[in-house]
Amino acid sequence: MNDVQKTDGPRLLDVRDLEVTYANGAAAVRGVNLHVDAGQKLGVAGESGCGKSTLALALLRLLPAGAKVSGQILLDGEDVLTMKWGRVRAVRWAGASIVFQGAMHSLNAVHRIGDQIAEPILLHRKATQAGAEKKVGELLEHVGLPAARAAAYPHELSGGQRQRVMIAMALACDPRLIIADEPTTALDVMIQAQILRLIEQLVAEQDLGLMMISHDLAVLSDTCDRLAVMYAGRVVEEGPATEVYERARHPYGKALSATFPRIGDPASRFAPRGLPGDPPDPSALPTGCTFHPRCPVALESCSTEDQALREAGPHHRAACVHAGAPLPAQPTAAPATAERTP
Ligand SMILES: Nc1ncnc2c1ncn2[C@@H]1O[C@H](COP(=O)(O)OP(=O)(O)O)[C@@H](O)[C@H]1O
Ligand SMILES: [Mg+2]
Repeated sequence: MNDVQKTDGPRLLDVRDLEVTYANGAAAVRGVNLHVDAGQKLGVAGESGCGKSTLALALLRLLPAGAKVSGQILLDGEDVLTMKWGRVRAVRWAGASIVFQGAMHSLNAVHRIGDQIAEPILLHRKATQAGAEKKVGELLEHVGLPAARAAAYPHELSGGQRQRVMIAMALACDPRLIIADEPTTALDVMIQAQILRLIEQLVAEQDLGLMMISHDLAVLSDTCDRLAVMYAGRVVEEGPATEVYERARHPYGKALSATFPRIGDPASRFAPRGLPGDPPDPSALPTGCTFHPRCPVALESCSTEDQALREAGPHHRAACVHAGAPLPAQPTAAPATAERTP
């Protein structure tokens, strides 16, 4: 993204030409470039199956064996893809850490949460038991839970509390970058808002970088400074969050912002909702622009010619033939539905 870098040193996270192909041939991430500086919040949006989690897992080399990865993942200038395993393990906690969706599955049901948060502190920080326990108490209080909850088992906590524990665990070794993959998707709206505010507060207080992944563009645009919209493994639109959310220049970005309207926005009630069909199977991608089969404003050339990201506004880029001008008015029904004959 072409926004101005805050410091002269290497970026906190700089992903260049990242490609991931699973062992079965699924090209899940295709030529992704993005970056996060300290204190910045990047939102990565896209429907299920667009490659967001694959991207997150690739960043810390957590992909299953057999996945082919190329490109560069520079964390503070150091390429994660060429690091020795010992270094990767250290970086996973102290460099960058991930908060996943669905804390119940990520926490171990038979261990007290305090012990689970203490584990990486003991291992990577070589802390004493007493030192680790003190840090656990501080972390719990930091995420809005009483220190005494360290003695609880995961099933004794609510969904929101468990997600707070996951965040405390992610912060255990003072990482500089947090990658949050759908951190609030499993939570109800009220709790979701609380967790989002907590993440925002922690990022601001500690000058962390945040990469937050969600299918919900409205949530991301509320929380993040910049957005990258992924479709079929590629970034198809990127720019300042408000710019992308309110003036999307890619028809996919536009459809996503219409699908997730801001609560209380009267205009959004009249906007087209949803998008027919599904993202393509990454083992059998359509020719040309991968979005063309679902695109309400596709031209004939879109089925054969792919588009690279191009300027679409201030610091705003979109990979669409229409990117240079506001999108043409969309037909009320997408072509797939409109053209269907009985
Ligand atoms: N282990 C795997 N092997 C093969 N294909 C996979 C694997 N994991 C994910 N995929 C495929 O890669 C694509 C992207 O998946 P994913 O990164 O989970 O997307 P998202 O997080 O955006 O929903 C999907 O088509 C998915 O089926
Ligand atoms: Mg995912």
